[in-house]
Amino acid sequence: MRSETAPAIRLEDYQLPRYRIETVFLDINLDPTETRVCTRMSLARTAGTPDGTPLELDGDDLSLTSVQIDGVPLECSAYEASPEKLTIKAPPAAPFELIVETVINPSANTQLMGLYQSSGTYCTQCEAEGFRRITYFLDRPDILSVYTTRLEALANNCPVLLANGNLAETGRVEGTDRHFAVWHDPHPKPAYLFALVAGDLAKVPDRFTTRSGTSVELNIYVEHGKEGLCGWAMDSLKRSMRWDEETFGLEYDLSVFNIVAVSDFNMGAMENKGLNIFNDKYVLADPETATDQDYANIEAVIAHEYFHNWTGNRITCRDWFQLCLKEGLTVFRDQEFSSDMRSRAVKRIADVRLLKSHQFPEDAGPLAHPVRPRTYHEINNFYTATVYEKGAEVVRMLKTMLGPEAFRAGLDLYFERHDGEATTIEAFLKCFEDSSGRDLGQFSLWYDQAGTPVVAAETEYDPARQSFTLSLTQEIPPVPGQKTTRANVIPLRFGLVDPNGTDLTPGSVDGATVSGDVLLFDQQHQTVTFKNVPVPPVLSLQRAFSAPVRLNQKLSEDELLFLARKDSDPFNRWQAVQTLAMQDLVRLTSAIRAHQPVSPSEGIIDVFRSILSDGSLDAALKAQALTLPGEADIAQEIGKDVDPDAIRSARESLRSLAGKALSGQLLQIIEASPAGAYSPDAEPAGQRALANRALHYFAVSDASGVSALVADRFKTANNMTDRLAALTLLVHSNLPRAAEALAAFHDRHQSNSLAMDKWFMTQATAPLKDAAQVVARLMDHPLYDPSNPNKVRALLQSFASGNPTQFARVDGSGFKLVAESVLAIDKRNPQVASRLLTSFRSWRALEPQRSALAESALLRISSCEELSRDSRDIVDRTLQ
Ligand code: ARG
Ligand code: ZN
Repeated sequence: MRSETAPAIRLEDYQLPRYRIETVFLDINLDPTETRVCTRMSLARTAGTPDGTPLELDGDDLSLTSVQIDGVPLECSAYEASPEKLTIKAPPAAPFELIVETVINPSANTQLMGLYQSSGTYCTQCEAEGFRRITYFLDRPDILSVYTTRLEALANNCPVLLANGNLAETGRVEGTDRHFAVWHDPHPKPAYLFALVAGDLAKVPDRFTTRSGTSVELNIYVEHGKEGLCGWAMDSLKRSMRWDEETFGLEYDLSVFNIVAVSDFNMGAMENKGLNIFNDKYVLADPETATDQDYANIEAVIAHEYFHNWTGNRITCRDWFQLCLKEGLTVFRDQEFSSDMRSRAVKRIADVRLLKSHQFPEDAGPLAHPVRPRTYHEINNFYTATVYEKGAEVVRMLKTMLGPEAFRAGLDLYFERHDGEATTIEAFLKCFEDSSGRDLGQFSLWYDQAGTPVVAAETEYDPARQSFTLSLTQEIPPVPGQKTTRANVIPLRFGLVDPNGTDLTPGSVDGATVSGDVLLFDQQHQTVTFKNVPVPPVLSLQRAFSAPVRLNQKLSEDELLFLARKDSDPFNRWQAVQTLAMQDLVRLTSAIRAHQPVSPSEGIIDVFRSILSDGSLDAALKAQALTLPGEADIAQEIGKDVDPDAIRSARESLRSLAGKALSGQLLQIIEASPAGAYSPDAEPAGQRALANRALHYFAVSDASGVSALVADRFKTANNMTDRLAALTLLVHSNLPRAAEALAAFHDRHQSNSLAMDKWFMTQATAPLKDAAQVVARLMDHPLYDPSNPNKVRALLQSFASGNPTQFARVDGSGFKLVAESVLAIDKRNPQVASRLLTSFRSWRALEPQRSALAESALLRISSCEELSRDSRDIVDRTLQ
């Protein structure tokens, strides 16, 4: 059957389950090719289920061995079984016990969903619908059950046996070389939170005492020999546990918390109850192999998964349309955690950069969908930047609008009211309505409308009246399938900045509700007048990026320069620099396309100069301010008829002007970069970021010995951050020592798979003419492995999404390479393939020649008969 014919799942079709499963006893006999799974479930009808309602259990690729009800094997005529479904035609009216036996083959599971093996270790991934690949079940998140899991395996091969909850029993299976462990999880949970791990792993133990005095055993399990790489993850875990107690009053609720790192994993990590399973990239770190960014990511992902214990596990989603209920809220929580651990402004800038570079294009293209989608074909395609990152922005806006106290009270109410439930966005918002007394009806549009609102802002100062008028307009650009839109409620943080850089306090305000520094913009058009404004101010709007909208504010170059120097909001200082740079980059790009001479403006260079010498800014913030908008960001700003080569030339011309004009200052910064023992803390990491940013500009200056300096930094680096920054410069700028450095990096790190991912990625993202050939060649490298998702991401995904000029080459070779790879990977791992396929999403914005090439690559994929449901869904929507 061609997958495109499968009907869409719709939110409006949600129905309460006809049966519930109270308890589950899983007995799993592990074997690489023939794992036997015996599932004993206590089932009962839900209220109102009529007599004779068949019980339909989900399956995926299953083979049934036997089925019994209350101890009696079922007659063949009493049920129907296919790999996708087990139907019990007329189950008993009274509660009953169902026993189902299946056989599965973990070693043949290349999708990495359900039970599979990663380097010999058995592990599982059940979100979203992987549990049905283990046993027939009501695999939907509103079925909450208490699980007991018995695992049995060869004692020698699998000394470690883990499942959710607390360990209840272990022992030898008499007369065999097998052993077993029984785990019991007292907290009712949906099947997607089930997990097991079995293998020969090393354990890194620790303990944590909760606020109420319970001692919790913490363990991180890794491959033998990697024990020394777990210190940062463990430290991050303990800080997360403490932070959640202190910030939200939330404590851990089992006597053990286990984390397992595996090298083959489709996503980042998974919050299975009491047994988090991680992509090892988000666990393992030492200065030799991990960058500062890796350390920050590990801290964030460890926190994210831990925080799910309350936002996701204790309170889960009624159905998959509510995914943002747990993901948006949990991303918000991990962002707050990282802000408290590091610099709030720098973290905010990094998060907004991510939002703009990943979520905005998604929202502006064919794959746009609301934070809470209303329909899907394949739920795995909705683990998106919109659900996660925009979902977090919506929670952040709630806090901004209600203020910290009412926000906290609403969350407290949510935990009190819905603990142990599978619930909805409506129920979540109701808690905040009840805690604040506010109506959130209009606010809920943020969950239902796709597309990034565009806000236009114009101002006028009237010296005679001493009044300052702000005219606001909002509009959501067209989104496929979205006919009408309504005005959102947009919280705008603002300041009226006087010529000294001080925020004015206006006398009174007409035309909008303003509380503190937050203005609520909730109509299509709104005119706001501030009275008693003695001097003409500059309006600093959307401070701290208070709403996920695109702001079109007409500020003169002088006003932007002023905000870049004087705004008391560090985020908007950064934003002003970005806006200045963006305006110039767009102007330069069109000049290049029109074959006109290009000359970057000097204004931005002056700003860079004053930022570099501003003693009040920390190094990390300076590094952010000096980072120009990315090529994809510029493409997005231009919006149509995009020529990636012109964009790149424009960006390079600005970079080179800055490098030449500031070379003296840059060199000083490079030379002052931190020496001595490495620490991943925010402060030295910020200094390294600034030094490497300086190096990036200095490398295109006229100074003599530039390439020797970069090569020397590569050689003498005592940590991965500096080594990789230098390597990237050498390779991307095609400097004389590039090949030599690549070889040296290879020799140094060839036994470390995660470090080698960086080696693949550096080459895949090089903006050089032969990049596509290099990528094709590297696919034959002995260390490249197409069945390892991290390798595919390092080589192909980073080429497709991080190398815009070479992916979109005018000869079509970049698109062709990626399209062929999608087709090859799709047979093995649909999730990884469909993710790679999303890199085509902005194809319609390209200039005609390139967009025609992209279209034919997409049509080629689309014409494949055996496409997975995942890839079929993405290709259909991308082409629609
Ligand atoms: N819940 C996980 C997280 O965000 C993501 C798991 C998604 N997995 C998938 N196959 N769709 O932490
Ligand atoms: Zn999550």
